[in-house]
Amino acid sequence: MCGIVGYIGKKDAYPVLIKGLKRLEYRGYDSAGVALYNNGDLLVYKKKGKVADLENFIKDQPTTGFLGIGHTRWATHGKPDDLNAHPHISGDGRIVMIHNGIIENYAVLKNALIKLGHKFTSETDTEVLIHLIEELQKRDNLPLEEALRMALTKVIGAYAVVLIDKKDPTKLIAARKQSPLVVGIGEDGDFYMASDATPIVEFTRRVVYLNDEEIAIAGIDGKLTIKTLGNKLQNLNIQELDLEIEALEKGGYDYFMLKEINEQVATIADAMRGRLSVEEGWVKLGGMEQYLNRILRADRIIFTACGTSWHAGMVAEYLIEDLARIPVEVEYASEFRYRNPIIKETDVVIAISQSGETADTLAALELAKEKGALTYGIVNVIGSSIARVTDAGSYIHAGPEIGVASTKAFTGQTTLLTLMAMYLAHLKGTISESYFHELISELSLIPEKVEKALKNSAIIESIAEKIKDSTNAIYLGRGYNFPVALEGALKLKEISYIHAEGYPAAEMKHGPIALIDENMPVIVIATNKSAYDKIVSNIQEVKARKGIVIAIVTEDDEIISGIADYTIAIPDTAEPLTPLLSVIPLQLLSYYIALKRGCNVDQPRNLAKSVTVE
Ligand code: AGP
Repeated sequence: MCGIVGYIGKKDAYPVLIKGLKRLEYRGYDSAGVALYNNGDLLVYKKKGKVADLENFIKDQPTTGFLGIGHTRWATHGKPDDLNAHPHISGDGRIVMIHNGIIENYAVLKNALIKLGHKFTSETDTEVLIHLIEELQKRDNLPLEEALRMALTKVIGAYAVVLIDKKDPTKLIAARKQSPLVVGIGEDGDFYMASDATPIVEFTRRVVYLNDEEIAIAGIDGKLTIKTLGNKLQNLNIQELDLEIEALEKGGYDYFMLKEINEQVATIADAMRGRLSVEEGWVKLGGMEQYLNRILRADRIIFTACGTSWHAGMVAEYLIEDLARIPVEVEYASEFRYRNPIIKETDVVIAISQSGETADTLAALELAKEKGALTYGIVNVIGSSIARVTDAGSYIHAGPEIGVASTKAFTGQTTLLTLMAMYLAHLKGTISESYFHELISELSLIPEKVEKALKNSAIIESIAEKIKDSTNAIYLGRGYNFPVALEGALKLKEISYIHAEGYPAAEMKHGPIALIDENMPVIVIATNKSAYDKIVSNIQEVKARKGIVIAIVTEDDEIISGIADYTIAIPDTAEPLTPLLSVIPLQLLSYYIALKRGCNVDQPRNLAKSVTVE
């Protein structure tokens, strides 16, 4: 997720751009840049680092001009550095562009353009798109908006782009598909373009939200034209903004955590993008290709992580042993690094980390490398330390996770690990073709099922009201849902400060059942078809001791909903994919309980987003 901003009008563009980028920095902050039209030429300044670093870099440079674009990056293709920073420039230096999104077929397009003589200076997919636009503009002598329109019909992926043509500085051009883009309409005929309204709202509250596959042309003459990729003119649907900046940064949600819980419909889809095809029936993880044989021949896969990421590793153990039949171990990084573990060259050590900077996980990786194991990273922050230290890896593409309590990163990691298990299982032939295709189809439906699971928020909020004053809670799950029980308990602990434990449901009778009384809420994740009767008896054991049972069930459940005190129904799916859905109500439950207890949901006490110290 990157931040993009553009301006055309009577003011100097640079101050609008740099202030807008600061507003958008929550969307991505590993590099930043601006391009300004200045007396017939383009001034392009771009730099690794934060917007403040860019501002400092530019402070003695010329920055006048009424037309400009700016970008703050969350890298997807190409590490964060000056060359990969946006804006990107066409080979002939005529057009300049900023982009938020992922061009999935950039490699094919790049090869074709190289054959036509194009030379590239960055590793980004964005640079490929601007060279494609340049090629079409020159070949057919097109105005920029036409060259853009033609180019986008050849692109597979997500984009929000804003462009300038120095040979036609009378317009600012934009287009979007799946990545957001807002056009602000100034009182004095000025136009603003941005990823969201935060850079715009101080200048105007009149906005047009671009729809998918629409192109916007904002003219210096004060005229705004919007048309489809099919060249059909669109009416302007001008809306009046009623949100303040603070609310806008959170996308209208009260807290980043709630925004990020709701973003999971998109972020799970982004984690799968380009890695799964229902039509063609394949799954692949590009990051594994170079070491595929070594991974398939591994004696053991060791996952090492901390906190929520460790819970994702626990899900991976069930997935990979169940589907791919490769032995798996899951290690707390802080223990693994000090317990003098046996690590062999035939092992694969996979680090899972949202930040990519967790000190214990990094140290565990260094140990694995010293012992000669292959190291792999499942990471969110591009170019982070763990991403650089590992031999290979896959990014989860969840965008910046601001809330300290990890939510979309967990489901992004779990999506990647599910794809990994399916990929290895299919290559090893340990699952049938029909089951493989069933899992592909079911996985592709998860985003819309997450959207359905999120619709339980009102019921969940009412349950939160009932149990918010508890001092303890127990989370129970079996099979794939045991790691989810651990994750649900951690969510509650870390943001509401209620003591909570996750247990395998059958473990109750080995001690924890002594804790059950009428004051103990017991959250049971009861979606497993394979162990349904056992889960029902676990719930009855709790009820017999007057425990308060909150059950997460599938929509077709008829028995548990008659026994539990409260039930939250989520869509059914293939059992290995359950964690992606059963975690959603637990995230919302912890959010609402914390809110009702007056806790700081985004920045809970004593916690940091990334634990970069031991
Ligand atoms: C999870 O909600 C916590 N914020 C914490 O446990 C976190 O998962 C852990 O610190 C690991 O962080 P990482 O994924 O960035 O390595």
